[in-house]
Amino acid sequence: HAAEAQRTDLMTITRHVLNEQGRHPESRGDFTILLSHIVLGCKFVASAVNKAGLAKLIGLAGDTNGEEQKKLDVLSNEVFVKALVSSGRTCVLVSEENEEAIIVDAPLRGKYCVCFDPLDGSSNIDCGVSIGTIFGIYMIKDKDNVTLDDVLQPGTDMLAAGYCMYGSSCTLVLSTGNGVNGFTLDPSLGEFILTHPNIKIPNRGKIYSVNEGNAKNWDAPTAKFVEKCKFPQDGSPSKSLRYIGSMVADVHRTLLYGGIFLYPADQKSPNGKLRVLYEVFPMSFLMEQAGGQAFTGKQRALELVPRKIHDRSPIFLGSYDDVEDIKALYASES
Ligand code: AHG
Ligand code: MN
Ligand code: MN
Ligand code: MN
Repeated sequence: HAAEAQRTDLMTITRHVLNEQGRHPESRGDFTILLSHIVLGCKFVASAVNKAGLAKLIGLAGDTNGEEQKKLDVLSNEVFVKALVSSGRTCVLVSEENEEAIIVDAPLRGKYCVCFDPLDGSSNIDCGVSIGTIFGIYMIKDKDNVTLDDVLQPGTDMLAAGYCMYGSSCTLVLSTGNGVNGFTLDPSLGEFILTHPNIKIPNRGKIYSVNEGNAKNWDAPTAKFVEKCKFPQDGSPSKSLRYIGSMVADVHRTLLYGGIFLYPADQKSPNGKLRVLYEVFPMSFLMEQAGGQAFTGKQRALELVPRKIHDRSPIFLGSYDDVEDIKALYASES
């Protein structure tokens, strides 16, 4: 009977957020409206990804953002920019695909700043491996005086973060600061339904996730950490290596199964590869909300203050105890 009742009591992402926003008497539904536009973008990308091969959406777009831009990168970016601007709830947008921040025209301005990676894992588009969208949300400081400073804030100032993974199913994972919840798209309803309530990451995992191809350029603490994963001194079993090459997919697996994801600095890229505002911060926010942690090699990731909107940072995130191990190695080196 309970299962029957549960089946008809659809907990959609919109209803879930409305319930959570109920805790903020001052909120007049603006966040819920913003989120519904992000969800619209995710639904569009999900359908485009599912028919990318058929709709000739794979392949290069020809222009670059410093890296090769894929058609789907450009298309998803346009969809998210238009959805976010038309929501009337945003003021500043930072996208991986736009060199400059977008300042929304005054008539359509709202109180949120959204930093996003419209399509994460582009190298996996053409072979059909999971890709995703990542976003982080700040509250504007002063709507009548919009500056880049509104988004050059530490991750601790973010009020919400999430990602959507376009894989065997389309899963949206979100935190508004009260824990982490996962929603799965039911294509027959076109709704994201709560399937993973209150996600908590195991305190320790059996998986490490890194691009071993960069090993020759790693610094000593990273090299030592990976060595210990493969040849544990304390007689514990070696860890498994799982690396998909889409941050969203590698982080989603880490969140659900436990373990550690790392994109370290190396001699070629002293700040690593991943971007602070729309990859490192949102994933670090989620990991902390799920009981894990996120470290840059020098400090708690969320305490970083970006100087430029496309700044990069090394990142070690995942199970609390696994990140403690890497912190100890960096502490003993400094
Ligand atoms: P994007 O496709 O948005 O540029 O991001 C790709 C990132 C991230 O998704 C992934 O973790 C990382 O690139 C993989 O980099 P390597 O191929 O160097 O391992
Ligand atoms: Mn890219
Ligand atoms: Mn990315
Ligand atoms: Mn991207």
